[in-house]
Amino acid sequence: MRTQVGIIGAGPAGLFLAHLLHRAGIESIIIEARSREDVEGTVRAGVLEHWVVELMKEMGLGGRMMREGHFHDGITLQWNRERYHLDIQGLTGGKRVVVYPQHEVLKDLIAGRLNDGGAIIFGVGGTAIHGIETETPSITFRRDKDGAAETIHCDFVIGADGFHGPGRQAIPAASRTEYEKIYPFGWLGILTRAPLSWHELIYTNQAGGFALLSTRSPEVQRMYVQCDPHDDIANWSDSRIWDTLHARLDIGDGWRLQEGEILQKGIIPLRSFVCEPMQSGRLFLAGDSAHIVPPTGAKGLNLAVADVLVLSRALEAKVRHNRDDLLEKYSTTCLRRVWKAERFSWYMTTMLHQNESETGFEQRIHFADLDLVRTSEAAGRLLAENYVGLPFD
Ligand code: FAD
Ligand code: PHB
Repeated sequence: MRTQVGIIGAGPAGLFLAHLLHRAGIESIIIEARSREDVEGTVRAGVLEHWVVELMKEMGLGGRMMREGHFHDGITLQWNRERYHLDIQGLTGGKRVVVYPQHEVLKDLIAGRLNDGGAIIFGVGGTAIHGIETETPSITFRRDKDGAAETIHCDFVIGADGFHGPGRQAIPAASRTEYEKIYPFGWLGILTRAPLSWHELIYTNQAGGFALLSTRSPEVQRMYVQCDPHDDIANWSDSRIWDTLHARLDIGDGWRLQEGEILQKGIIPLRSFVCEPMQSGRLFLAGDSAHIVPPTGAKGLNLAVADVLVLSRALEAKVRHNRDDLLEKYSTTCLRRVWKAERFSWYMTTMLHQNESETGFEQRIHFADLDLVRTSEAAGRLLAENYVGLPFD
């Protein structure tokens, strides 16, 4: 088969790109290793930056998000058994974030794509990328384990295939540089059928570590606690999870975290990672295939969408006007934003977690950083501007 743009991966990067290209009159085909049910059922990110919300609306895909998403005008930071409301809306000239789960975004994007008659081939195996240094690259794959290999002939290949996909590996190792930081802690995340405990997200560094109170709907809540990244989830009974959440979130003022049945639990490691450059010949990487942030800054999904916004404009300039300049500087343009998001995610992570390999001096600096956000409008605004999404430059 033949198309203009062959996209590997139906995550946020691949699906947003296919929609943006469709709007620009450019054809694409997406192949995805997982089933549609799996993609639509995997619980990951929760927070959309204000411009992603505007983009969803502009693409005509924001209906359900506007009805079911939770608009937040700030976040609560908590340490030393005190809470501080950071007024993000006030500090950013009226911008808000939306808590609307990633898998709901994906459901909306997949339904929209299929409605437009666009192709998504789910459940593929054996994906391989060929000829990226030529003008006729291609992707081969199999629809099922025993099926025949099929080929997508295209003008451009997009590796929107997450951290473990083949996209990044297709750039010769000698031509890329990888920057990585592995944190000595992970997050234990739960989904619980419980009522809302607080009107906004609470990020806390208290009683031995980090905790985050987030939400999914009025009936289902999402919570995380810092843990050993190598720990076995079997060591975390429901009562141990609730005890840890109470210790880190309750502040002794009569407010109590609302408990409920735990529907899902799991542990994720935390890492920062950047691959430079994000392109080679006719292959372009977007989203987690090129960079990873720890989830503390809520940036991963948003960064994936930022990449493909830049990429769609560059592809449009090439296809419509035969202009190469935007494609040539795709990686440079994206990396400016990527490194700022890496910095912010690292800052939020180090400030809000307890790290046994740090000295007492460093731990106290993190509390001073938190207190600066409370007492300095400039520090508060810097956090707020990053959280809600930096402007594109
Ligand atoms: P993915 O979502 O990983 O999509 C890649 C797709 O490619 C996958 O569906 C995969 O199956 C497919 N694929 C892989 N290999 C192949 C192959 N060989 N052939 C075909 N298809 C392939 N981000 C935020 O912005 N805000 C948050 O609040 C937030 N919270 C998070 C909380 C948690 C617990 C986690 C784990 C992540 C969080 N993130 C958050 C990060 C966010 O989920 C990711 O950054 C985002 O999913 C990246 O999108 P992507 O499209 O680049 O990659
Ligand atoms: C989530 O709701 O999953 C979530 C929210 C904020 C974060 C990370 C994850 O920083």
